[in-house]
Parts: sequence; structure tokens; C-alpha cells
Amino acid sequence: MKAILLTGPKSPLSIQEIDTPEPGPDEVLISLKAASVNHRDLWIWQGDYGNISYPCVLGSDGAGVVVKAGSEANQGWVDQEVLINPSLNWGHQRAGHSSNFQILGVPSQGTFAEFISAPVSNVYKLPDGYDFIKSAALPLAGLTAHRALFYRGDLKANNTILITGIGGGVSSFLLNFAVRAGARVYVSSSSNEKIKKAVELGAINGINYKDDNWADQLKEFEPAGIDLIIDSAGGPHFLPLIDLLKPGGKIVNFGRTAGNIPEMAPSRLFYKHASILGTTMGSPADFESMLEFVEEYNMRPVIDRVFDWKETDKAFNYLRSSAQFGKVILRIC
Ligand SMILES: NC(=O)c1ccc[n+]([C@@H]2O[C@H](COP(=O)([O-])OP(=O)(O)OC[C@H]3O[C@@H](n4cnc5c(N)ncnc54)[C@H](OP(=O)(O)O)[C@@H]3O)[C@@H](O)[C@H]2O)c1
Repeated sequence: MKAILLTGPKSPLSIQEIDTPEPGPDEVLISLKAASVNHRDLWIWQGDYGNISYPCVLGSDGAGVVVKAGSEANQGWVDQEVLINPSLNWGHQRAGHSSNFQILGVPSQGTFAEFISAPVSNVYKLPDGYDFIKSAALPLAGLTAHRALFYRGDLKANNTILITGIGGGVSSFLLNFAVRAGARVYVSSSSNEKIKKAVELGAINGINYKDDNWADQLKEFEPAGIDLIIDSAGGPHFLPLIDLLKPGGKIVNFGRTAGNIPEMAPSRLFYKHASILGTTMGSPADFESMLEFVEEYNMRPVIDRVFDWKETDKAFNYLRSSAQFGKVILRIC
């Protein structure tokens, strides 16, 4: 089969022939029609991720058609249009994943390929009204966003929230989910244009985090403070986020796009009665809740661009430039 092969850190991404996988007894073989690019793929491409061995096939998000089942019991899946939950071996506790947990695509074969074998327990029918492109946008980003907001963040209607870096793929789901859940949403971005787009999608307002006084601008918007901040950046802007919270407020973080968080005086945290919570991907229950939410609210993902998979290099450069607003998709053909 054809697959996009990464042969070393920062090497060009080209289509090459590799062996087609055989589904195990609890797996199905899926003919992939679309995949999406996540920041994780960029970290791995640049060699900034654990447990990479080359050559490898990237990609955590995929949608396609089941063409073969590894056992008689799973024959009913053949010809079904499906998407894949990329949280592998989560385990039994919703609070956190097991020690065998992996994310689909490195170290296992990823979705930038014609075929993938996936555990039946991670395969779901496409949501109503979803084609392969929309479905490929959904799994990793939708799952992460849903768990961050609702399970870890315990979002309530009328909560005031801030989403940092609204151009990101996960952030676009956070915005969509939070607006539908009745939250009052602020966003941050490096681009005033993206803030405008977020307001069109239901945000109240936003600030440009490149401005020196970005935190003061947010304080002016919400003098009483913010209930919940969902952050994927970390970095030096993280500590001022604590000062923006209401007493007893929460920050949920799932990313490190802007690097490490500097040292902090503990008083900054304890005088605020603040909670800082981490989250990664999500459990099967989170994935199913996310799909239910999408169907209940007839929600569509924000898709910025669709690239032919022969142009995967271009798609990666596009994501690296942070030009996107929402998800970047690869059409596999
Ligand atoms: N732990 C997990 O399970 C998990 C799951 C998904 C993603 N992540 C992590 O979450 C992050 C976002 O992932 P993604 O796939 O959504 O990425 P993405 O689509 O590549 O988006 C990255 C966005 O980060 C924003 N950004 C960059 N520097 C920033 C800064 N200093 N402050 C605030 N925002 C900044 C930019 O927003 P603007 O363009 O608006 O400036 C950019 O568009 C990555 O670090 C990724 O590894 C973790």
C-alpha cells in the first residue's frame, strides 16, 4: 500500500510503498479516505517527541471504509463508514489513562496511509451528516477539547471562559462546544483576523496575545474574573492567566506550544484558590460523549483547508506557520 513515510527528523514527507497491515482478531482493516494533521504530527516530524523510531507513518486522525475484519465476530463492520478514536489502550478509569496508553500514529502505524488496522473497540460509525473530511477533523481535537471543557473543566452554562490560541485545531472545537453549552467565551490569538472569526462563531471578544497589555485588556473585559481558562500554550503567558481567574477558578492545560512555564511564587496560586488541571486526549466515555454532543447540536467542525495527501509537506508548512483557523485535512486518494 501507499503511505506517507517519515524517514528522519524534519525529512521530506513523500508517498512510498509499505506492507499493507493484516487485521488481528480484534481489529478491522480500514481503507482511509481522509486524515487530519495535528500539532502532534509536527512535534514528531521535528523529532521533539518520545519513542520515535524511523521510518514511521504519522497521523492520529482518520476516516474511511472497513474493508476486512480479522475475525468472524466482526464481519458486521465490513463496508461500514467509520472514524477512529485515536486513544489506544486507555484502560478502565476515566480519571486517567493506563500505563499501556498510546496515541494512534507513532509508535504504531498512523493514518497517513491507504490502509490501517484498528481495534474494533476504537472504531465508530460516522456521525449523522458527516462525510470523510469532516469526520477526519473530529477525533483527536474533538476528544481533547470535550474532555478538557466538560470532564476536567466541569463547564457550566453561563460560565465565563477564555480559550488561548484560538487558531489551533483543538481550540476551534473548544469554541464550538463552549458556545453551544451556553458559556460566555473570550479568546486569545496572535491574529486580529482570527479573533474576528471567533466572534462570528459566537465568542464575545478576544485579545491579541502579542500585545504587551493583553492581560490588562482581558481584565477590562471581565473585571470580576474568569471561571475557566483552557490553555494549550503554556510558556511565559501562563502565569498571568492565574491572575485573570475568579477566586476558585480553574485552568485546564493540555499543550506546550509556547514552551515551559516559568517559576512561580506559590502565593499567586493559593491566594486565588486556583486549580490547575492537566488533561490528555480522553477515555472511551469522553469520546462517546463527544460524538453525542456533535450529533445533538448538529455541530460541524471548523475546517480551514483540505490538501491532497501528495501535498503533505505543504500542509505541514501551513500548520507550522500558524496560518490556520481550525483543522487542516489530508484527502487520501
Ligand atoms: N495533551 C493532549 O492530549 C493534546 C491533544 C491535542 C493537542 N495537544 C497540544 O495542544 C497544542 C495545540 O494543538 P493543535 O493541534 O490544536 O495545534 P495547532 O492547530 O497547530 O494550533 C497551534 C495554535 O497555537 C497557538 N499559539 C501559538 N503560540 C501561542 C502562544 N504563545 N500563546 C497562545 N497560543 C499560541 C496559535 O494560535 P493563533 O494562531 O490563534 O495565535 C496556533 O494556531 C499543541 O501543543 C499540541 O501538542 C495536546
